[in-house]
Amino acid sequence: SLYQRQAFDTGGALFSSHPDEVEALAHERLSAGGWSYASCNAGLGDTHRANRQAFQHWRIVPRMMVDTNERDTTTEVYGKRLAAPLAFSPVGINKIYHPEGELPVARVAGELGLPYSLSTAGSCSIEDAAAHNDQGAQLGKEQDRGSVDSKGLRYFQLYLPHDDELATSLLQRAADSGYDACIFTVDTWQLGWRHEDIRLGNYGFYKGIGTELGASDPVFRRKLDEWGLDPVKDTKEVGRKWIDSVWHGKAFDWSKLPWVIAEWKRVSGGKPFLLKGVQSVADALRAKEAGCDGAVVSNHAGRQVDGAVGSLDVLPEIREAVGADWTLMFDSGVRSGADIFKAIALGADLVMIGRMWIYGLSIKGEEGVRHVLRSLLAEFDILMNVAGFRSIKEIDRSALRYVGPAG
Ligand code: FNR
Repeated sequence: SLYQRQAFDTGGALFSSHPDEVEALAHERLSAGGWSYASCNAGLGDTHRANRQAFQHWRIVPRMMVDTNERDTTTEVYGKRLAAPLAFSPVGINKIYHPEGELPVARVAGELGLPYSLSTAGSCSIEDAAAHNDQGAQLGKEQDRGSVDSKGLRYFQLYLPHDDELATSLLQRAADSGYDACIFTVDTWQLGWRHEDIRLGNYGFYKGIGTELGASDPVFRRKLDEWGLDPVKDTKEVGRKWIDSVWHGKAFDWSKLPWVIAEWKRVSGGKPFLLKGVQSVADALRAKEAGCDGAVVSNHAGRQVDGAVGSLDVLPEIREAVGADWTLMFDSGVRSGADIFKAIALGADLVMIGRMWIYGLSIKGEEGVRHVLRSLLAEFDILMNVAGFRSIKEIDRSALRYVGPAG
């Protein structure tokens, strides 16, 4: 791996790539509130632990004497070539972690040829994140990173407002700014019970941090005018209104899904639509029947339902139920090249990373995100090399042994 060689040549890396060290460095850098927002899990943290433990239920069986000199980490998702089966999970209010917010993250994703996901809770505008994602992709192309296109690959993650006009406006903006898919997150219309965040009164939007995505929306802007609020001067009040519009605490049911899919298809000219937060065969099948093009098997990093099943534990049965061709993305608990490998072997087409890049962003901005992602890419590539796998297609269930909960 080029990145490993560079690290050896220069006598070291920017900071440790070990996830525990990365987490500890981010903890040092962030304020109490910032750290709590990034690291908080629902309740006792049982789901977060289950996510990590799930990776211990499976072990990689390495193969020797395979000519891996020509190995290829690229893969195709919805007709686009990616540098690796790795993407950025959507994470809100990045200005908590860095003054530039989402923009450096979108740039690094573009540069590395990996899909970027912008959250509806983002603190930069939909349009700016898109422009920076393309800027990064242009840079990646100039650096001649094999599979990188000059247009960035990006997904828009939707939190659905109850106001249909506002929902359509967000989707329209995402489509107009070249987002390649819509990921509809259905596990967080209300925040889970997170002890430390509650103790600290720690909700970014209430503090007026990063309301730009909402404040730059023409429909939301019109409402702000009606309420007599100024997006620059009244950031706290605007934050409250934005939270009330999107994290309203009112659940949706399946009857709303056809409308959301149809709206996205209409404004985007038929681009893919996925449901995020799926943790059961029943929900995956229902999403597929409703016309979704895929799902993200995720439990929101264990931040919503405490005491839930580990995300990787449900992935194999969901893959089996939906068949080989329906796209499954996967996240929650991924920390290493081996984790990425196991998720692919158990049926993920694309593995997403959340906290690791937030920590990189918190430690050293754009360079920090780049370091964390390049380390994960290099670790995964080297794992393929030493385990005897030449391509993503070769990584299937036969690459693993189930060693059970005691493993
Ligand atoms: C999230 N996640 C998330 N998901 C989403 O759909 N929209 C969002 O705005 C956010 N915001 C968010 C903030 C923070 C601080 C975290 C840690 C997570 C969930 C995220 O997309 C993803 O599912 C998990 O983070 C994946 O797990 P890991 O990689 O963090 O273990």
